[in-house]
Amino acid sequence: MAVTPERPGAQEWVPEEPTLDRLRSAVDGCRGCELYADATQGVMGDGPPQAPLVVVGEQPGDQEDRAGEPFVGPAGRLLDQALESAGIDPGSVFRTNAVKHFRFSGTRGKQRIHKGPSRVHVAACQPWLLAELDVVRPRGVVLLGATAGQSVYGSAFRVGASRGQRLEWPESLALPRPPDWVVPTTHPSSVLRSRQRTEDLAALVADLQVAAGLL
Ligand code: URA
Ligand code: SF4
Repeated sequence: MAVTPERPGAQEWVPEEPTLDRLRSAVDGCRGCELYADATQGVMGDGPPQAPLVVVGEQPGDQEDRAGEPFVGPAGRLLDQALESAGIDPGSVFRTNAVKHFRFSGTRGKQRIHKGPSRVHVAACQPWLLAELDVVRPRGVVLLGATAGQSVYGSAFRVGASRGQRLEWPESLALPRPPDWVVPTTHPSSVLRSRQRTEDLAALVADLQVAAGLL
């Protein structure tokens, strides 16, 4: 993906010997793409440092941007509920996002309207996700939605084609100890927006059960 002087990618801001604390303090200084400029802060992942499962979302939303923590808003609450229904203790999971800064287009009253990241932002931000995975070294990874899927498998990735399946970590993305498996599924925000919420939540839980069975 095009690296430009204005959008050099995150690599040069990622600490050489990362720990979760070092990543958290370094992300605020990242100028790997232009999204830092309008966001409140960078939001790194959160959860047990040796979690067996890492769940990857899209990017922080309005509430996450203010709090500096991932998945603290409505999507996070639905995610917790779905994890529990699938038999996974939400407290055992490390949650993070493909992109670490909130993106929005305009405001509605006090609320800022979320705008999904572009491919260029996903590519620019990927070094942070790889650094987190290198520190946590989970057994498995669940990818929530197209953005997370594209961050790992590239822009041709489609959720519908692979959700609920056990995939291999791609060899093209070097990690010293890659996860044993990856399971893609839909994003909890799309369940929240759905008109067939009950069915879509059940499908999300079924995919998470696949991950639970592999843990
Ligand atoms: N949606 C995401 O993808 N990530 C968050 O942290 C919150 C909402
Ligand atoms: Fe850096 Fe990612 Fe933020 Fe862009 S979105 S400035 S690459 S942390």
